[in-house]
Amino acid sequence: MTVLRSALNTADDTFRTNYRHQKQVLAELEEQVQAAIEGGGQRYQKRHRDRGRLLVRERIELLLDRDASFLELSSLAAWGTQFAVGASVVTGIGVVSGVECMLIAHDPTVRGGAMNPYSLKKTLRALEIARINRLPVINLVESGGADLPTQSELFVHAGKIFHDLTELSALAIPTIALVFGNSTAGGAYVPGMCDYAVMVDRQAKVFLGGPPLVKMATGEDADDEELGGASMHAKVSGLCDHFAVDERDCIRIGRQIVSELNWHKLGPGPTMPADEPLYDPDELLGIAPSDIKVPFDPREVIARVVDGSRFGEYKALWGTSLVTGWASVHGYPVGILANARGVLFNEEAKKASEFIQLANQTDTPLLFLQNTTGYMVGKQYEQGGIIKDGSKMINSVANSKVPHLTVNLAASFGAGNYGMSGRAYDPRLMFAWAGSRLAVMGATQLAGVMSIVAKSSAAAAGREFDTEADERNRAAIEAQIEQESHAFFVTARLYDDGLIDPRDTRTVLGIALSAAHSNIVAGQRGYGVFRM
Ligand code: COA
Repeated sequence: MTVLRSALNTADDTFRTNYRHQKQVLAELEEQVQAAIEGGGQRYQKRHRDRGRLLVRERIELLLDRDASFLELSSLAAWGTQFAVGASVVTGIGVVSGVECMLIAHDPTVRGGAMNPYSLKKTLRALEIARINRLPVINLVESGGADLPTQSELFVHAGKIFHDLTELSALAIPTIALVFGNSTAGGAYVPGMCDYAVMVDRQAKVFLGGPPLVKMATGEDADDEELGGASMHAKVSGLCDHFAVDERDCIRIGRQIVSELNWHKLGPGPTMPADEPLYDPDELLGIAPSDIKVPFDPREVIARVVDGSRFGEYKALWGTSLVTGWASVHGYPVGILANARGVLFNEEAKKASEFIQLANQTDTPLLFLQNTTGYMVGKQYEQGGIIKDGSKMINSVANSKVPHLTVNLAASFGAGNYGMSGRAYDPRLMFAWAGSRLAVMGATQLAGVMSIVAKSSAAAAGREFDTEADERNRAAIEAQIEQESHAFFVTARLYDDGLIDPRDTRTVLGIALSAAHSNIVAGQRGYGVFRM
């Protein structure tokens, strides 16, 4: 492998402008992450503490091994919606008793920890990540169940939580419920479906129907403890496997359960030298421009992310809009596909297909660094079979079995999002730099297309075309698409697993690769029919 030589000039104006822009974006990100950490705000936090309870992040911190990493996912879920940023649940990959686990933790300070449509998406994605990467799941439960005013949007789909928990168990991926508080109605099935249930004395409330509902349904008088307290479930129903005297005891028992899982990762450990890159990761802030139309050399990113800045480039002189090659991150070998000039032409699509097959042949995980405006359009390219070549690439990506990790560095537009292993192509984990954009196409192009369609439609109907109204529509659509392609909007809807600071790319990928190696790492040996 060659050591990459950086051509980045940290003293020039472009670098400084980009750097300032990224800093500004990161300040905005930090503000929103803080809002997520505040959960329901000071009033509800105080009330929660006054009840002698730990906040959700304190529970997580105590559960994790000392100084262990916690890769929080989708921190900005529900951003910009009627619901609190973070969507009343914290999810992430953390190390508990030496085992990488998926943590799903309700935040009871946000509307009693009730689950809204975004919390549901976040929870289901966490369960999916646990399944595809084979990570034991620990639920830290304290939730008012469904957010009742939005029940119509979540009730039916929420059943999938219980479905997925038991499916994980059947796949020999252990599931644990640590019940700190309310876990009623449908929520009672979380400890019900988990392999292990721990409940906190005088705090856990696990019943299908609380006292008022029982009174209404059967006329019976009963209190919370009789219906679903930890003591009752430990001594009478047997739903509780471990009775915890308080929250800290519950966390201790949770750690003990994980330590007794006899857990082995199925993928290999790191095999390559894991030395730091030669270049300062801080310089990553000066690479991606504020204007996503301006291309940049992804080798500058690779040089600041991979071990020793070593990169064995594949087909360097062919299909140059896509950079492909071999490297390692924290000692884990990876094949990298990175867009260089945005557009994917025929050569790039074919090069990607070959490269993905090579990685599968050698069981090497793939890292997709997206900065694409999609596949090339136009007579020359259509006649040259761009659909067939794009299809080859999508075939290779879709049928590839090695772990995929995807990072949107700047732009993810059109079918380029699919070809570069976007959300619908099952990356084990996917992240986006906070300044990136994602949409079916750029805002200006989309507004322009709509305007042309409107003009043809008016002509076909024999109507006069209102140019002024068209200008207004165009501006409105452009503004709408601009807003909808913003990284915060995209991550709010769980189209990725979280926004990251570019400087953290190496660390995030290291944690993600390590988690991905909990499962078998094996490539696809046969492929679908390629359109030649
Ligand atoms: N849906 C929507 N909002 C809910 C909610 C739910 N399931 N549960 C609680 N909230 C809201 C409350 O209306 C309250 O809002 P407000 O402060 O703006 O008035 C806020 O969350 C806090 O609730 P509160 O009852 O004050 O908190 P608590 O900590 O004392 O009690 C619960 C929490 C969850 C035990 C209690 O709110 C409760 O029993 N909720 C209903 C549970 C339920 O029946 N869920 C349906 C299951 S399918």
